Amino acid sequence: MHTAISPAILYWGSIVVLISTENEDGTPNIAPISSAWWLGHRCMLGLDASSKTTINLQRTKQCVLNLADDTMGDQINALAKTTGVHPVSESKQSRGYRHVKDKFGVAGLTAIPSDLVNPPCIQECPVQMEVELVDVHEMMKDVPGRAGLVLALEVKILRVHVEDQLRMDGYENRVDADKWKPMIMSFQDMYGLKERKAVVSKLATIDEEKYRPWTKAEVRVEGTGVNVMVVENGATLYEQSI
Ligand SMILES: Cc1cc2nc3c(=O)[nH]c(=O)nc-3n(C[C@H](O)[C@H](O)[C@H](O)COP(=O)(O)O)c2cc1C
Repeated sequence: MHTAISPAILYWGSIVVLISTENEDGTPNIAPISSAWWLGHRCMLGLDASSKTTINLQRTKQCVLNLADDTMGDQINALAKTTGVHPVSESKQSRGYRHVKDKFGVAGLTAIPSDLVNPPCIQECPVQMEVELVDVHEMMKDVPGRAGLVLALEVKILRVHVEDQLRMDGYENRVDADKWKPMIMSFQDMYGLKERKAVVSKLATIDEEKYRPWTKAEVRVEGTGVNVMVVENGATLYEQSI
């Protein structure tokens, strides 16, 4: 039997991303989020328009998406219910938030320089993706007084760093999904993945490289100059210098 209910939140489960951005004074900020999904070398982020992260990202057009694994609960909890915004909004105060300027310090995390963007990578995160902002979509435009309260931000992945122990043996550019144990937020709780696959995946019979021509994305991994290219039939249609 199913019953029609009205949950206040619909966070059915997605990975925890620690977004690092740069404040106006050049110091870094971090926020944990879980509204993130991926397609090609793009990511869509769902963010509260008033958070420091959103303000920084819209101003600088840059951030780093640092993925937390299931051992990072203490660091995520240390960042939870904090904001880089001062003073803290009434809405966040009512949910027990406090202002924290030094998010790296409060969470005991280490900032290391990124290759292509100003915000730092978080050393403790096994995956770090340097990105730039491409587009911003105001959500809830259909609700009077709510337009733009939350934003969907499209970002372009410029560079991917992964801890070597996550890489698949024998491949230059693959992550071994058996080794990757992301922290998953489901509703407001955090879970890890089981040690085994739930099922043998039919989709996983597709060679990952077959996705590359679809999004026409080549991401070079060396150097600090030209980084992102769109290649079609061996011809470079577009290059981006960083
Ligand atoms: C595990 C976790 C997941 C979260 N997911 C999101 C999210 O997807 N989007 C969002 O806007 N806030 C999310 N939050 C709340 C933000 O972390 C919160 O708004 C924070 O104050 C942002 O910090 P900032 O103002 O310094 O950017 C999440 C918090 C936690 C602990």
